[in-house]
Amino acid sequence: MTALTTSFGRVRAVSDLTFDVPAGRVTGFLGPNGAGKTTTLRTLLGLVRQDSGTALIDGSRYVDLPDPVRTVGAVLESTAFHPGHSARVHLEALCLAARIPTRRAGEVLDEVSLLDAADRRVGGFSLGMRQRLALASALLGDPAVLVLDEPANGLDPEGIHWLRGHLRALAADGRTVLVSSHVLTELSLMADEVVVINDGHLLTRLPVTPDLERVYLDAIRAAR
Ligand SMILES: Nc1ncnc2c1ncn2[C@@H]1O[C@H](COP(=O)(O)OP(=O)(O)O)[C@@H](O)[C@H]1O
Ligand SMILES: [Mg+2]
Repeated sequence: MTALTTSFGRVRAVSDLTFDVPAGRVTGFLGPNGAGKTTTLRTLLGLVRQDSGTALIDGSRYVDLPDPVRTVGAVLESTAFHPGHSARVHLEALCLAARIPTRRAGEVLDEVSLLDAADRRVGGFSLGMRQRLALASALLGDPAVLVLDEPANGLDPEGIHWLRGHLRALAADGRTVLVSSHVLTELSLMADEVVVINDGHLLTRLPVTPDLERVYLDAIRAAR
C-alpha cells in the first residue's frame, strides 16, 4: 500500500500508510488494539473505501482483479458461518459461488486437519475449529496471496503451532502471507518479519529476532 488513508467520520483509522509485503515469507502485521490493522486489511480487500492512497494486490486494486478468489484468500475477523451447515456444506457453497470444483472442499478440510469434523454442524465448532474452517475457506481458490486478520485468536498453543507450520509451508511455496495480530508472541512464532503500526501510522518494520519484544515496546513507547 502507498500513502493509504482511511477514515470513519472524524476517526482516522489508517494514516498515510506505506508498506509492501514480499512473496515467499510470512509477514506479520502488528499493533495494539485499535491501531488500524483490520481497517488496513479491509481497505486492501475493497471492503472499505480509502480517503486517499492505493492498496494493490499483485499490482491491481482488489476490485480490478480478474479472478479475485484465485488470487487472494482472506480470513477476516468475525467470519460468519451458518450454524446449521456442516463445514463441508459451507465450503461447497463457497465453491459453487466462485466456480471452483466442489471436491476442493474436502481437499482444504484435509489441509487444515478438519476432515474428521467435516460433516458436523458448524454451530457446535470451537473457536479454534472456526479459525481452521476460515483458513480452509481462504485456501479454496489456491490463491498466491493470503491475508489473515488475527487468525491465531482463540487457538490453543497446539493450534498456534499448527498454524505456524501451515503458514510457513504456504510461504515456502512462494505465496505471499500477511498475518495480523495484536499479540507479539504469536507473531514472533509465526512471522519472519513484522510491520508495526500504531494509531494508524507505520512505526517500523522489524525482523523477528529474540529481542523483538524489547525493540517493539521501545518503538511503541517512543511513539507516545
Ligand atoms: N466500522 C467502523 N466505524 C467506525 N470506526 C471504526 C470502524 N472500524 C474501525 N473503526 C475505528 O478505527 C480504528 C482502527 O480500528 P481497527 O482497524 O479495527 O484496529 P485494529 O484491527 O488494529 O484493532 C479504531 O479507532 C476503531 O474504533
Ligand atoms: Mg483488528
